[in-house]
Amino acid sequence: MDPLEDLFTFLRFPSISADSQFRNEVEACAEWLCHRLTQAGLEAHRLVTPGFPVVVARNQHRPDRKTVLIYGHYDVQPVDPLALWDSLPFEPVVKGNKIYARGATDNKGQILAHILGVEQALREKGDLPVNVVFVIEGEEEVGSGHLGQVLTDHRQALGADIVAVSDTGMVAPGIPTFTYGLRGIFCLELRLQGPAVDLHSGIFGGSVANPATVLSRMLSALHDAHGRVAVPGFYDDVKPLEDWERTLWAQLPLTDELWLRTTGAKQLSGEEGFSTLERVWARPTAEINGLASGYQGEGSKTIVPSRAVAKLSFRLVPNQDPEKIRRQVTDFLRRLCPESVSMDTLSQHEGKPYLVRPDSSYGRAAQRALERTFQKPVAFIREGGSIPITQTFKDVLGTDTLLLGLALPDCKAHSPNENFLLENFYAGIRLNQNLLEELAHVT
Ligand code: BES
Ligand code: MN
Repeated sequence: MDPLEDLFTFLRFPSISADSQFRNEVEACAEWLCHRLTQAGLEAHRLVTPGFPVVVARNQHRPDRKTVLIYGHYDVQPVDPLALWDSLPFEPVVKGNKIYARGATDNKGQILAHILGVEQALREKGDLPVNVVFVIEGEEEVGSGHLGQVLTDHRQALGADIVAVSDTGMVAPGIPTFTYGLRGIFCLELRLQGPAVDLHSGIFGGSVANPATVLSRMLSALHDAHGRVAVPGFYDDVKPLEDWERTLWAQLPLTDELWLRTTGAKQLSGEEGFSTLERVWARPTAEINGLASGYQGEGSKTIVPSRAVAKLSFRLVPNQDPEKIRRQVTDFLRRLCPESVSMDTLSQHEGKPYLVRPDSSYGRAAQRALERTFQKPVAFIREGGSIPITQTFKDVLGTDTLLLGLALPDCKAHSPNENFLLENFYAGIRLNQNLLEELAHVT
């Protein structure tokens, strides 16, 4: 079968984990995936969790071979704003040299490349050079809340020498990229309640606190005038960048000019005293992801809103602990909040940051595989995004993770018109095969 046909089928499932309306579609996607892995010649099954199933698949294992756990996710981010898509998010199309659909890069295209690599090797050679365990979850985009427990419960069956993940970026087309660090994250919803209902702003305005005003004041206190997060203690555990990292990053083909173009922002902005790459890869941040209060419809409506809500997330770096920072942030917000409104915080998902030495024997094997696949020297980066399970692999299974991503800077992950370069899809299939061969020879 044409690899693209498979990718199209995978992409047609609207497997949006964040939105409960799509629950059946996420389940259906897991079922298809399980079936597809069986078809590839693997023993596949679904592990039930209180959330979405984890799809697990393995080849015939032999005790004298290395075991590689290949991790990915079949869930995707919500698609809104739908109006900004040039074609429908779950009706994949090829335009030019790219395939467009939600999940094309993040992460269906990348994980399917691994599956097809394994299938092809099994078909051509009858066997793989290593034991493989695929672990493909349906809750990565909502913080991998149940996968940690699955790893703990199945520690024996899921034990591996090394984890391989393609869910990160490449610095530019054709440049093989080895990611050795990720930021952590925790998400928080801040809810303020003012008057019992929306009030007439003429009759009551001026006599009661407006929760939208209070929220704005609180949010504006999150950063100081130098772009630093103002939460006391926030930076206490931040591990400074090392010299070798600065040296390697200086060689990357990532310029501020490119960053400006990719973001479409008017200018770059962030914490004073740090370069763009340092700001996103090695410094923690506080972001407002969503804001809601009062009337959002056409025209004006003169009210004092009764509620105001902000969705916040904090990106963390080694060695910050999400739980500790969450407490510091919540205490800070409580102190900022006046008596005139009531405040609630809703804790949402979190994940630890990840950092691994790139020069371990497995790391070097992965770099050889990248070089064989792309015929270019490897770029070494950290990423600003988060894959919450990577540190959990280390904590629960004791296993390091190799991050060999195929996402390009303009892949529009999480945005309208998400896309995946077809060339990278095929490169991913070869990368899987080169990787398994190189890992087999690690001593
Ligand atoms: N593939 C991304 C993580 C990523 C993005 C790594 C860019 C490197 C560069 C992953 O699917 C993702 O989006 N993760 C979420 C996790 C969160 C929802 C807990 C993220 O980073 O926002
Ligand atoms: Mn994502």
